[in-house]
Amino acid sequence: MTTQPELSEAQIAVHWREEGYYPPTPKFVGQANASEPAIIERFGEVNFPECFKEYADLLSWDSYWHTTLDTSDPPFWKWFVGGRLNACYNCVDRHLESSRNKAALIWVPEPEAAPTQVITYQELCRRINEFAALLQGFCGVRTGDRVTFHLPMVPELPVAMLACARLGAIHSEVFGGFSGAACGGRIADSGSNVLVTMDSYYRNGELVDHKVKADEAVEAARALGHEVEKVLVWRRHPGEYASEAPMVAGRDFFVDEVLREYRGKLVEPVSMPAEAPLFLMYTSGTTGRPKGCQHSTGGYLAYVAGTSKYYQDIHPEDTYWCAADIGWITGHSYIVYGPLALGTTSVMYEGVPTYPDAGRVWRIAERLGVNIFHTAPTTIRMLRKLGPDEPSKYGYHFKHMTTVGEPIEPEVWRWYYDVVGKGEAAIVDTWWQTETGGFLGSTLPALQPMKPGSCGPGVLGVYPVIYDEDGAVIEAGSERAGNICIRNPWPGIFQTIWGQPERFVQIYYAKYCRDRRSRDWRDWPYFAGDGAVQAADGYFRILGRVDDVINVAGHRLGTKELESAALTVSEVAEAAAVPVMDDVRGRAVEMYVALKPGFAPDVSLEDKVSAAIVHEIGKIARPKNVWLVADMPKTRSGKIMRRVIAGISNFTDVGDVSTLANPEIVDDIRHRVQSEK
Ligand code: WTA
Repeated sequence: MTTQPELSEAQIAVHWREEGYYPPTPKFVGQANASEPAIIERFGEVNFPECFKEYADLLSWDSYWHTTLDTSDPPFWKWFVGGRLNACYNCVDRHLESSRNKAALIWVPEPEAAPTQVITYQELCRRINEFAALLQGFCGVRTGDRVTFHLPMVPELPVAMLACARLGAIHSEVFGGFSGAACGGRIADSGSNVLVTMDSYYRNGELVDHKVKADEAVEAARALGHEVEKVLVWRRHPGEYASEAPMVAGRDFFVDEVLREYRGKLVEPVSMPAEAPLFLMYTSGTTGRPKGCQHSTGGYLAYVAGTSKYYQDIHPEDTYWCAADIGWITGHSYIVYGPLALGTTSVMYEGVPTYPDAGRVWRIAERLGVNIFHTAPTTIRMLRKLGPDEPSKYGYHFKHMTTVGEPIEPEVWRWYYDVVGKGEAAIVDTWWQTETGGFLGSTLPALQPMKPGSCGPGVLGVYPVIYDEDGAVIEAGSERAGNICIRNPWPGIFQTIWGQPERFVQIYYAKYCRDRRSRDWRDWPYFAGDGAVQAADGYFRILGRVDDVINVAGHRLGTKELESAALTVSEVAEAAAVPVMDDVRGRAVEMYVALKPGFAPDVSLEDKVSAAIVHEIGKIARPKNVWLVADMPKTRSGKIMRRVIAGISNFTDVGDVSTLANPEIVDDIRHRVQSEK
């Protein structure tokens, strides 16, 4: 962890002015799950950690816990110790008695004319049992084994997740848009013997080949010394095969064929200890190696159920649509686990929000009677740009909306409120992370007014604080920015980085730990890696990452990952990735590349660098620009000064350049880059 981040999103953040409040409508307040101010007292610091029983009591436990929070081995906190439960049972089986014929998932596939699939709790249970039986019987998957998925937005993904949860196996879903190489790295890191994928899926109206990535993934894992035993291939159109990639005999199997043997099979849900890992979710970090964030069964499920109930105001009778991808933490927590634990109806959409036009989302909302809608600022900006008046053409009514993943500009927030929400919906701007399992900062929708551009105070039972670089508290209302941290553990916090416990301690706790020997959680604040300011009313405004992570359209990309990908191009000597402001995606990536001696810059090399990044990481990482430069601004010790480069790219102050070994290069690069923008 650098003490003085030389480059960060927070430094290029746009500072918008303090905004006024928006109260929720009386109609919303009248029906809200959390409408009595007493709830805030119940979750007050004096009741910590026992307050979280209220979340855990939303679940069905096979045996109750004896210790709510065990802090004996900091910062490896254990929640609900002694308790046992099964996550799949909690999300599915327990709803059967009262609601077996109710829709659990409504899947809206591409193309638009294709029929929507309504999957009842009964049907979901059947599919999960059969797939769990297959994983167990055909692949030998046992409790504690890891299983990697590389699946797009199809119902087979939640089915596979819940099948693993039923067996007590640990699932690791890799976002479908990631490249085969990125998937292979995650397979090897987690030690999965089984990869579950699909032959193809729809994107922008096209059936795209996905199986090819599985072959690359197996190769990439092999290069890292890990052998995948079985690749299970679901077919997007069962019976037909839509991929160029041949099946490898003895390794690749069509799920629909193998499944025939398991039709009607039932598998008992395995009763798991609360602290048993439920899944891994890889995310980018400060080095090239992605971090497998390990989430628990009991604490995680309790936390996502509780926050879904109070912050998203989910009632069992709602039709809830979170338009995120299940390949990210948002989809795990708030498409699958939270909503299904509460027994509601969760909508899944295969396609992109703007295809075939900017009315698609609102047509889906109208047709299905969606009343809770959840999306990201990037999508909101895109829909606002392409179809600013579209929402008024459709007769849907949202009572509640969420925004998540990046800071939202007040102007964009207001369009979301007025036009999408038609002035009726309460909005929560939820700040949180892959690591944190669920929300950290948000308003309680019926009890705390909204303020555009601010996420709100810490959520129930979570106490954020802003520290300066030296660990001194920056007071609310001081208008000074600092590092936002959480003073206490909460049940949704990840347990560790898979296989890298030292890195877990180093990245998230070392910076502000007051005493390494202390078993008092108060000495172990969690460092979130975001810059923030706190207004006098206690509301936080998140400014962006303070570490080597760039948040593009809500997706985290590590600068080191981007740079190592660029360095796979043989002509490249040095590479630096920097964030730039982007109207739609919030931030975009620009790559600066210096070539090895003897190579001249040309457009084909720029393309080659872009292609290498897409190959190593995926299309989401494609840089906005690749600048081939003669040299990088460097310190005398040879360190690339990304702060200076980011200043040039963003037309902001480059700061002090007097310590550079080659200060003359700054004007060269500035001239070149700024004249072409
Ligand atoms: C950013 C996504 C401002 C932040 C759930 C965080 C936000 C990173 C917000 C985590 C928000 C998330 N306002 N910024 N409401 N929500 N972020 O792990 O920088 O994909 O650290 O988790 O997104 O991204 P991740």
